Amino acid sequence: EAAEKAGFEHFMMKEIHEQPKAVRDTLNSVLKDGQIDLSEIGLSDEEIQEISQVYIIACGSAYHVGMASQYVFEDIVRVPVRVELASEFRYRNPILDQKALAVIISQSGETADSLAALRLCKNEGIRTMGIVNVVGSSIAREADNVFYTLAGPEISVATTKAYSTQLIAAYVLAIQFAKVKGTISEEQYCTYIKELETLPDKIQRIIDDKERLQWFASKQANSKDVFFIGRGIDYAISMEGSLKMKEISYIHSEAYAAGELKHGTISLIEDGTLVIGVLTQPALYEKTVSNMVECKSRGAYLMGLTTFGNYNIEDTADFTVYIPKTDPHFATSLAVIPLQLLGYFVSVAKGLDVDKPRNLAKSVTVE
Ligand code: G6P
Repeated sequence: EAAEKAGFEHFMMKEIHEQPKAVRDTLNSVLKDGQIDLSEIGLSDEEIQEISQVYIIACGSAYHVGMASQYVFEDIVRVPVRVELASEFRYRNPILDQKALAVIISQSGETADSLAALRLCKNEGIRTMGIVNVVGSSIAREADNVFYTLAGPEISVATTKAYSTQLIAAYVLAIQFAKVKGTISEEQYCTYIKELETLPDKIQRIIDDKERLQWFASKQANSKDVFFIGRGIDYAISMEGSLKMKEISYIHSEAYAAGELKHGTISLIEDGTLVIGVLTQPALYEKTVSNMVECKSRGAYLMGLTTFGNYNIEDTADFTVYIPKTDPHFATSLAVIPLQLLGYFVSVAKGLDVDKPRNLAKSVTVE
């Protein structure tokens, strides 16, 4: 096992480091001469043209990929997108549009609820696509189309590189749909693709700076509760950050839509409660900062997660993590990295079993 960890103490840290390559490989698998080519996936431009809405169905972190991509899809493709937890979707007799595409996201391709949701869609005559990491898995076999993520085997129960490659797959679909449906210009199309190509190096830069998060994590190891807040895509990022924190560090955490805090959750803020504000979306920056200030005035200790250049966050936050600039649509790919590292380092500081957290399984084949 030590050999498999390639010098890292845990699989999770090894897999965090594999993200630049996993993201690059997944992107390259669908690029041809600088353009997106989905011919191997088997989705033609004519078929894309016909798709009137998208259902994204998944569990766990894959569901969070759906949440983040919903904003991207709706913003650039202008088709309605519904993101559904597979375990909810399948039991509520959903109203389905025959011209919809159901996208099932799953690392393992074996999650029982996701597989059942896929079958439900197929039975209703809805076209299905799997975004799947494990070749030949049940979801990969049964979906009409498969977009394979090239993350390679993921051992750590807490997903990192599979999540990052699922995001790339979703971005690629959104960009191609937007081009085919004529909702973005040719120039914008090329700009988006070029921006995606810069993500692996930017992810690498964040990983290279991990010691600063290690120091911060060691100070937070005794936290009782952590709140992640954000709006829009930053809310979706918060969900994944919170899940990483709770699953491996056993600290209670919540992701909350920043504007909704005042409707109840803010009563849980006490002296010293860690509140992490995610601030990657320029249009929502000031709004979320004002929610952070509300938390601070009730005693919260604030961490800001934002892009380089937003230095005025230091007027408000007690500790700030900066990520490289990117198109705000793709910020999830960068902002999630420090949050993975934070969860990891808190878990290590507490001496927990990082790769095999209690009560959790890598692949959930029970309903
Ligand atoms: C488990 C894993 C999560 C994962 C979820 C969905 O709970 O611990 O990391 O996100 O299942 O798994 P899937 O294989 O369908 O992506």
